[in-house]
Amino acid sequence: MSKFVPVASISDIPAGSARAFVVGDREIAVFNVDGTFHAIENGCPHQGGPLAEGWIEGKVVTCPWHAWCFDVTDGTMTMGGFTSVDAFDVQLEGSTISVSAEPRT
Ligand code: FES
Repeated sequence: MSKFVPVASISDIPAGSARAFVVGDREIAVFNVDGTFHAIENGCPHQGGPLAEGWIEGKVVTCPWHAWCFDVTDGTMTMGGFTSVDAFDVQLEGSTISVSAEPRT
């Protein structure tokens, strides 16, 4: 079973925004999509752009560096589909957001 690591309070990530956190040796971006939290690898597979700083529209984030787009719910690329980023399970306990230390398989 994956270990969940507390990273933030729900008030730290308002709806429509994201923040990046270091969890173990991974940098993980946590997104708030209409009150539901999703977590994917922060580093874009193109050249490492910070996805948490990207443009968020619904469940899609656009990389701030060269505009590759990813579904934050599962890490799939929404334009082209030739790559993806890892997705991580998220748990809420009270107002605390925890992220799995291991990617979803
Ligand atoms: S680094 Fe993300 S699109 Fe280039």
